[in-house]
Amino acid sequence: MATPSTIPVTATYSAGATPLISGAPVLPTSFVFVASQWPAQDQIAPTDSTEVTEWLEELSGFDIPDLAPTADGTCVGDPTAASQAASRGWWTCGGYTRSTDITACPDKMTWGVSFDDGPGFYSMELLNFLASENLTSTFFVIGSRIVERPQVLVEEYMAGHEIAVHTWSHRPLTMLTTDQVVAELGWARKAIKDVIGVTPTLMRPPYGDIDDRVRAISLAMGMVPVIWTSTGTGATFDTNDWKVPGGVVTGPQSFATFESILSNATLLNTGFVVLEHDLYAQTVDLAIGYTLPAAMNFTPKLTLDSIGHCNNIPSTNLYRESNLNTSFPYANSTSGDSSVPSGSGGSSSSSSSSSTGGAFSNTAMPISMVVATLFAATGALLM
Ligand SMILES: *[C@@H]1O[C@H](CO)[C@@H](O)[C@H](O)[C@H]1NC(C)=O
Ligand SMILES: *[C@@H]1O[C@H](CO)[C@@H](O)[C@H](O)[C@H]1NC(C)=O
Ligand SMILES: *[C@@H]1O[C@H](CO)[C@@H](O)[C@H](O)[C@H]1NC(C)=O
Ligand SMILES: *[C@@H]1O[C@H](CO)[C@@H](O)[C@H](O)[C@H]1NC(C)=O
Repeated sequence: MATPSTIPVTATYSAGATPLISGAPVLPTSFVFVASQWPAQDQIAPTDSTEVTEWLEELSGFDIPDLAPTADGTCVGDPTAASQAASRGWWTCGGYTRSTDITACPDKMTWGVSFDDGPGFYSMELLNFLASENLTSTFFVIGSRIVERPQVLVEEYMAGHEIAVHTWSHRPLTMLTTDQVVAELGWARKAIKDVIGVTPTLMRPPYGDIDDRVRAISLAMGMVPVIWTSTGTGATFDTNDWKVPGGVVTGPQSFATFESILSNATLLNTGFVVLEHDLYAQTVDLAIGYTLPAAMNFTPKLTLDSIGHCNNIPSTNLYRESNLNTSFPYANSTSGDSSVPSGSGGSSSSSSSSSTGGAFSNTAMPISMVVATLFAATGALLM
C-alpha cells in the first residue's frame, strides 16, 4: 500500500501553550491516565457515577422524545423500530435526517474531510501528511482511545484540526438507554476537555446511528450531530475502509468505492462528507496514499476542508469555552428552526420539509439497508 510519510514529527506542545482558537484556554498540564477514575475502556460507560448524575441535569427542560432504545442499532435487529424509522428520524434505517444534522458541506465540490475512531497509533503519520499539504480535518475521537494516546489528540488540536466527540466506547447509541447515551457522550467529552482544555460542540454518532431521542440528548448536551452524506439513490459516502483491517473488503475495493463517491459527488448540488478512519494502519495508508491524493488531483477541482469550517461555523463555536455565539450549538432542539444556521442543517438534501412539527424536518433520504445488514453480518465494532 502507501509509502509512509517521511515528514518529521511535528513540534510537541506543553502545558500553557496557546491554541489556535481565539479565546480558548491554554493547554492543561499533561494528562495522566488513572484507570480508576474512568469507565472501563471499550465498555459501555456505566451510569451510576456522580459525573453521569451531573451530566443528566443538562437534559432538564429539554424535550427528549420518549423512544424505546432499539434492539441493536440495526434495522434487521429491530423490525418494530424499523417500521417507525421515519417518525423516529432514524438515520441507520432509511437515512432519515433532521435539519439540525450536519451531513455535508454547503458548497458544491467541497469535501468536508474527517477521520473517526482515533487517536490511533498511526494518526501521527496522517497528521504529518495533512500538514505537508496544508489540509485540515475534523477528528471524531473516542474516549477510550484518548486516554491511551492523549498526546496525539494534543497534536491534532494544536495543528489546527477540529476535535469532536465520538463517544466513550463506540456503541450504536440508539440501542442505549438515555442515561447510557449521556454517559457515552459525557465521558468522551470529559476526556477531550481533560487533555486539550476544551469541550467540543460537534459529535458523530458511531455507525451514524442516531434517532430523535439521541439527537435531542446530544443537542441538550451542547453537541450538534454530524453524519456523512447520503445520495438520493440509496448510497452513503462510506469508504468501507473500516472493513479492510478485518479482511471483509480489500484496499483496492475501498479505494474504488472512494472513486465512486467522488464521481457521485459531482452530481450533488452541495459538497459532501465521507466516512474514513485513522485508527488502523490500512485506513491511514488508504488516506495518505490513495484517497487524499485522488481528491487533490481530481477534476473538476475539489476543495478539501474540515467539516465545521466548510459549514461556515466559526472555529470559536467549535468549543464551549471559546464559543460566544448563543445561536450555536442550538439552545433548544425542539423549539423551532430559527436558530438553525443556513447551510449547516441537512445540507445534503436541500428539500427538507417539516411534516412532524418541531425543529426537525422530516427529510427522507433512503439509504441502503444493506449497510445495516453488513454491520450485523460482520459484527464489526468500529465504523
Ligand atoms: C503550505 O503553506 C505554506 C505557507 O503558506 C506554503 O509555503 C506551502 O507552499 C504550502 N504547501 C502546499 C503543499 O500547498
Ligand atoms: C454512486 O452512484 C451510483 C449510481 O446511483 C450508485 O449505484 C452507487 O452505489 C453510488 N456509490 C456511492 C459510493 O455513492
Ligand atoms: C453564530 O453561529 C452561527 C452558526 O454557526 C453562525 O452562522 C453565525 O455567523 C455565528 N455568529 C457569530 C456572531 O459568530
Ligand atoms: C424547548 O422548547 C420546547 C417546545 O417549545 C419547550 O417545551 C421547552 O421548555 C424548551 N426547553 C428549553 C430548555 O428551553
